[in-house]
Amino acid sequence: MSDSYRTSRQLVSILHTDGKAELTIRNYDPGAPADDEVIVRVEASPINPSDLGLLFCGGEPSSLASAPNSLTLQVPANVMRGMQARVGQSLPAGNEGGGVVIAAGKAPAAQALMGRTVGILGGGMYAEHRRLRVNQCLPLHAGASSRDAAACFVNPLTALAMVDTMQIEGHKALVHTAAASNLGQMLVKICLKDGVDLVNIVRKPEQAKLLRDVGAKNVVDSSSPDFMKELTEVLAATDATIAFDATGGGTLASNILSCMEAAQSRKGGEFNRYGSSTHKQVYIYGGLERSPTTLTRNYGMAWGLGGFLLTPFLQKVGPKRAQELRERVADEIHTTFASHYSKEIGLTGMLDLDNARGYGRMATGEKYLVNPQK
Ligand SMILES: NC(=O)c1ccc[n+]([C@@H]2O[C@H](COP(=O)([O-])OP(=O)(O)OC[C@H]3O[C@@H](n4cnc5c(N)ncnc54)[C@H](OP(=O)(O)O)[C@@H]3O)[C@@H](O)[C@H]2O)c1
Repeated sequence: MSDSYRTSRQLVSILHTDGKAELTIRNYDPGAPADDEVIVRVEASPINPSDLGLLFCGGEPSSLASAPNSLTLQVPANVMRGMQARVGQSLPAGNEGGGVVIAAGKAPAAQALMGRTVGILGGGMYAEHRRLRVNQCLPLHAGASSRDAAACFVNPLTALAMVDTMQIEGHKALVHTAAASNLGQMLVKICLKDGVDLVNIVRKPEQAKLLRDVGAKNVVDSSSPDFMKELTEVLAATDATIAFDATGGGTLASNILSCMEAAQSRKGGEFNRYGSSTHKQVYIYGGLERSPTTLTRNYGMAWGLGGFLLTPFLQKVGPKRAQELRERVADEIHTTFASHYSKEIGLTGMLDLDNARGYGRMATGEKYLVNPQK
């Protein structure tokens, strides 16, 4: 087995004491695989909003600047207060990726992956090679490329987790915000396939059109002057009482709870000064909107607001269900869970100022793919 992979390069993000965040590329040795490990030649890894949190350390994209062999940006003082544990550390980034297994440990499960194209999860994917345990790899069916495999964990499993959570918690339909996102488009396709009512909230008319074109039935645009009325109507029609909010900040979560309450109170029944007795739940699962979360509590007492992350969900449902969801992703990688990328760049390309401004925008249909072999 050649061990040329042991001279590899990876991208790291460093936070300096003066509040400067720096992205740079360093040499590294992934190490030889243990019995139950493999070495993957990473050929594709998306830049998702959750990767940007680690890459940019909460710094302002408007402060991005080019430096020799690196890219810098300034982290505001209020963000630095929560970042002390990160100061001085060089952290590899990139949650997930796709690639080919080029070396394997002695265990039969590791040997079985030799030469296979796999989706991989575990951080540090903006690297030429990664050493991973067998259970961090999802082997794809023949014909799938590393590009197909690049995003088969984070967004697909989170979208599936939303539908599972809706069912586990006894709701009939669900609401999703920033719904024209890559994840949002997958959720539309899952719900169509599974016969689940989904209410999509977007913020631009063109995003509403994009979702309708992939089959979405209920789309509400928060930029409409009648947004609250339109949302209430569709919540009454679908009986949706659980929402997953990717924006996190501002008034959107509160507005959804208000409209859910208005929709539920239409059902009549006895007046209750504590509001409708139906539980209404919003889970914040992203932080696209950086302003504080503002609640105007005009929705009685039967409501909840919480955070939602994929990993605790997978732990909660257990390995059997997690494996079923992973297998569904592999089976539908070219359809339900297909991702589209606006640009493919290499590790050095990640340090290019124009590219960084592009992937830092997190705009609809502008997802970047990193190919560390480029
Ligand atoms: N909790 C978890 O476990 C978990 C797992 C996976 C993903 N996520 C989250 O899921 C979200 C979507 O990820 P993705 O990869 O699918 O995103 P994406 O394809 O990069 O799209 C981002 C979307 O967010 C919209 N957006 C950006 N800022 C916004 C704001 N302030 N208000 C409303 N919309 C805004 C963009 O619309 P414009 O074009 O209008 O800017 C775009 O449609 C992210 O927040 C990510 O962090 C969370």
